[in-house]
Amino acid sequence: MSKAPEVDRRSAADWLSSRVESQAGRIFLVTGANSGLGLETARALGTLGATVIMTARDSAKGEAAVESLRAEQPDGKFELRHLDLADLESVREFAAGVEHVDVLINNAGVMMPPHSLTEQGYELQFGVNHLAHFALTLLLFNTLLQGENPRVVTVSSGLHHRGRIHFGDLHGNQKYSRTGYYAQSKLANVVFGLELHRRLRTNGIGMLSVLAHPGYTATNLQSSGPTGISKLAMKVSNRIMAQDVGMGALPQVYAAAGADVESGQFWGPDGRNESKGYPTVVQPLDEARDRELARRLWDISVEMTGVHIDLEP
Ligand SMILES: NC(=O)c1ccc[n+]([C@@H]2O[C@H](COP(=O)([O-])OP(=O)(O)OC[C@H]3O[C@@H](n4cnc5c(N)ncnc54)[C@H](OP(=O)(O)O)[C@@H]3O)[C@@H](O)[C@H]2O)c1
Repeated sequence: MSKAPEVDRRSAADWLSSRVESQAGRIFLVTGANSGLGLETARALGTLGATVIMTARDSAKGEAAVESLRAEQPDGKFELRHLDLADLESVREFAAGVEHVDVLINNAGVMMPPHSLTEQGYELQFGVNHLAHFALTLLLFNTLLQGENPRVVTVSSGLHHRGRIHFGDLHGNQKYSRTGYYAQSKLANVVFGLELHRRLRTNGIGMLSVLAHPGYTATNLQSSGPTGISKLAMKVSNRIMAQDVGMGALPQVYAAAGADVESGQFWGPDGRNESKGYPTVVQPLDEARDRELARRLWDISVEMTGVHIDLEP
């Protein structure tokens, strides 16, 4: 009963190959690429001929993931790098070692763990899902600028619609809700992606900032954070309601490689409640377009990460 659905990649692969041209010569960087959507994104990009830098916090898991892709795609160009997003020192160290990248995919994430903190003392979901990706994007900004048609894709969730940025208690020290703080982190992803898009336009920079979400996709996400009865319930619903990871990765792969994708767009599944289906442009929560909120989040993210670039709003 707890097994994830069988992955039938044919329809996803057909969809992709008929819509996305070869990505040979382009370098994609995928965070959290040892599992779930990140691994599938690396796999799909590999079939399109891309070079993929895959990051993992656990080297053994990372090696196993890269080896599995190399076995499937002997000509594939996959490279593994260590990155722990729960430690901003690791983010800095990692970013300093990246020489070339055309497309950054901010994919890694953690969902609904018990209240816990990053190395720097920030709530884990806000720290990993938002702050570390904010810092990574800014640290790689100049490298991306040297890339060819550079893009940043940030992976959010339909649950961002339930999010609120708790500026008075960003780290849930007063009152923590696992779901509420996951939703906060995923709203932060959207607010950041849209603010980056506006700042790029304001400053006349051709880089794209695009958002994506995978609907409801069976991965390790539903079992690695939640505990107890929630974990059990999610295992069951993964089996019954979730789409497989081949389909789930399509919005972010398309956001990263589709030729007609525009900066500021948000790609998600086209099915009911955006939980399953093929990629289409979806709408964020109205509040995610609030410029004052975006500026506040940007400024506090600079303060918390210590990473700043000259990119005026
Ligand atoms: N699956 C869904 O239905 C769904 C829905 C909406 C949004 N999303 C989003 O999709 C993204 C990918 O999630 P997934 O579903 O593919 O889950 P997953 O299978 O659990 O993969 C998450 C990835 O993030 C990595 N990660 C977690 N904490 C990290 C840290 N501190 N440093 C570096 N990497 C870390 C994990 O590494 P380990 O293997 O070492 O833990 C794993 O590689 C997330 O941003 C998630 O919010 C997923």
